[in-house]
Amino acid sequence: MRKKIVVGNWKMNLLQADAAARATELKELVGESSGCEVGICPTFLSISPVVSALEGSCIGVGAQDIFWKESGAFTGFLSAAMIADAGCKYVLIGHSERRGRFGKLEVPESTLGFFAETDETVNLKLKAVLGTSLTPIVCVGETLAEREASKTDEVIAAQVNAMLDGIEAEAFAEGVIAYEPVWAIGTGQVCDSTEANRVCGFIRSVLPASIQASVRIQYGGSVNPANAAELFSQPEIDGGLVGGASLKPSDFIQVIRSAS
Ligand code: PGA
Repeated sequence: MRKKIVVGNWKMNLLQADAAARATELKELVGESSGCEVGICPTFLSISPVVSALEGSCIGVGAQDIFWKESGAFTGFLSAAMIADAGCKYVLIGHSERRGRFGKLEVPESTLGFFAETDETVNLKLKAVLGTSLTPIVCVGETLAEREASKTDEVIAAQVNAMLDGIEAEAFAEGVIAYEPVWAIGTGQVCDSTEANRVCGFIRSVLPASIQASVRIQYGGSVNPANAAELFSQPEIDGGLVGGASLKPSDFIQVIRSAS
């Protein structure tokens, strides 16, 4: 039986003191233990204060990205070892916002190169994380245009296969995949639970047989206290990656309890 995992992605929100205060509040709400694994991914700068605030709690901390090199002349980047050294347990890889895939494009197409995450860089980052103490949470998902063109499964299979390219299946046995339909992220338009369950099951079927039973597959995209229980009761959905609703501890605790 896979343990459900609920992770909050705080994205580019909260200054350090506010992040620490919210982490402290969540720690009190969660208490000694929760029935599921819980994590928070604050900004890089808030990792340290949040790790301190959560000392002695069962809530883990994660980073929102990493670079694949160990060290060197890579201005502005952080390695897996640096993230682990800061006290992180998790790292998000390939979030659609880093891939430059937005539900609503608010920048010119030409700007998307700035985000620069591709299937290849996702694969490099995953290789850099495997073998460290960090648990990777790799995000995959289709855009609205891809869904409407009936390409959902094709796009997702390509992302999952590319992410695992050149990686021994067993190395990812304890890994996590987040199915995040791009059109559902931050839009309030949650994916129907039956369809989310179907796609999570499809992702599992694409994985090498030897790790199909152990890899946890989350759903992400407009998860909130009102829809979490229905989503998390689906057999193929092993928890959630939660953006907006993770910023308020009183909301996030309800989402966590729905998975517990
Ligand atoms: P959302 O974001 O819950 O605000 O839709 C989810 C995510 O991007 O991980």
